[in-house]
This record gives sequence, C-alpha cells and structure tokens, in this order.
Amino acid sequence: MRYFIGNWKMFGIPKSINILRKINSFYSKDKNRKKYRVIMTPPYTLIESYAKYFKNKKIFIGSQNCYQKDQFSSNTAGVSPYMLRSVGAKYTLIGHSDNRGEGDSDLMLKNKVRFALKNNLKVVFCIGENKIEKKNNKTLIVLKKQLTKVLERKFNKNNIIVAYEPIWSIGTGKIPTAIELSTTILHIKNVLKNIFKESPAVLYGGSVDGGTVEIFKKIREIDGFLIGGASKSSKKFIDIIKNYYR
Ligand code: PGA
Repeated sequence: MRYFIGNWKMFGIPKSINILRKINSFYSKDKNRKKYRVIMTPPYTLIESYAKYFKNKKIFIGSQNCYQKDQFSSNTAGVSPYMLRSVGAKYTLIGHSDNRGEGDSDLMLKNKVRFALKNNLKVVFCIGENKIEKKNNKTLIVLKKQLTKVLERKFNKNNIIVAYEPIWSIGTGKIPTAIELSTTILHIKNVLKNIFKESPAVLYGGSVDGGTVEIFKKIREIDGFLIGGASKSSKKFIDIIKNYYR
C-alpha cells in the first residue's frame, strides 16, 4: 500500500473542500486506486465538516497535530486525540518540524503518539534533520535518535507510519539525491525493525510535486509521500499520483 498524504498547514476555509472533491473524483475513477490511499490533513477548524462529507467516500481526513493529553484538560486551545476522533479524524501527524520548532519535545511527542493510538487515530510520525546536521554528516544519527526517543515496541506498529522530511527540503524545492534518499530510508527502516521487528511504512516529504516524484518513484523503499505546498491544488496533487503510476 502506498500513501499520498496532504498537509495543508495554515490553509483552508469551508469552500476549500472543492479541492478535495476533485481529488476524490479522480481517485474514484483511477485504475490504480487499489494500490494507494489518499489522506488529507486540513486545519482543526475544517476537520469535522470535511470528515462528515467524506465519511463514506475514499479520502481519509486527519489532523496536523494533537495535544499531549488523552481526553479533556485545562489547556487553553488544546485539542486532544479523543476530541479529534470524535469528529471523524482517522489520522494525525505528530512531530512535524514546524511543531518541533515551536517546542514539541521528545516527551511531548511520545505522549501525543501514545494518546493518539489509544484513541484509535493512526499516527504519521514525522522526523528529519536540519541543514546544519546534514552538513555535519549527522543525518543518520539524528534520525535514529528521533525515532528511538519516541517510538516504543509496545505501540501498535500497524497504526504507525513514519514520514521522513529533511527540514532543509520543506518548501524549498531542494531535494536529496536518489542515493542519499535510499540510504536514509533503509537506515530508518532498520531502526524501525529494531524497535518493532517489522518496519511500518516510511514516507518521504519535502518539495514533492509532479516533477520531483519522477525521481522519488524510482526508490521503491519509499512507501508514499507527505505533501505540503502541492496539496493545496487538486491538479498538482493529482499530478503527483498520475506521474507516480505512469
Ligand atoms: P512541502 O512541505 O511539500 O511544501 O515541501 C512538506 C511538509 O511540510 O509536510
């Protein structure tokens, strides 16, 4: 199974659902549709209405983040996994570099993963090195640390997906070379095998579009993509899927 996951970040109002309706109608007719799943993560404000609309359709709605507590608590603006699940979210991103940059610690991330899984959300756990770490050849060490500090064997690996997003590649148009990327993805899968015995799916994210996907698709170890900028346009998002299976 391959995954095409869109991350809208701080984008979208109710009528932006038209973007997803177009993606859904492409998906429903695509001869390759059995091979992949489409998941979109709009902002909190749109999850309930979009999840309702797509309830019996093929697009899954997820969240971009969740609070590190289980149900209800006195945290202003907190949104818990329980609350997300109750409005129809099926997935949540956790550990996106935007949120790590705003202070998400490994302990906070561990609690987010734990409570998301407890509330039947599938977790897309994001990891990635920054520019300086890459320059100092620290990529593999950094990624191993990010994985082992948060993920535990007792977590159900069937409900976890890992997304490798080099921070220097997000929104920049810069991408790793094919060799770098296949080495890194294999490394991540080996670390995950040590934690879980079997590796969950590992996605790539960072400047994925209809052009760069031509390079990424040659690396068979990549199980799918986390797509930022290009997920805000139905055409760009569909082009990624079309070019991947071409
Ligand atoms: P990008 O973002 O596709 O715009 O590079 C990816 C992400 O931040 O998830």
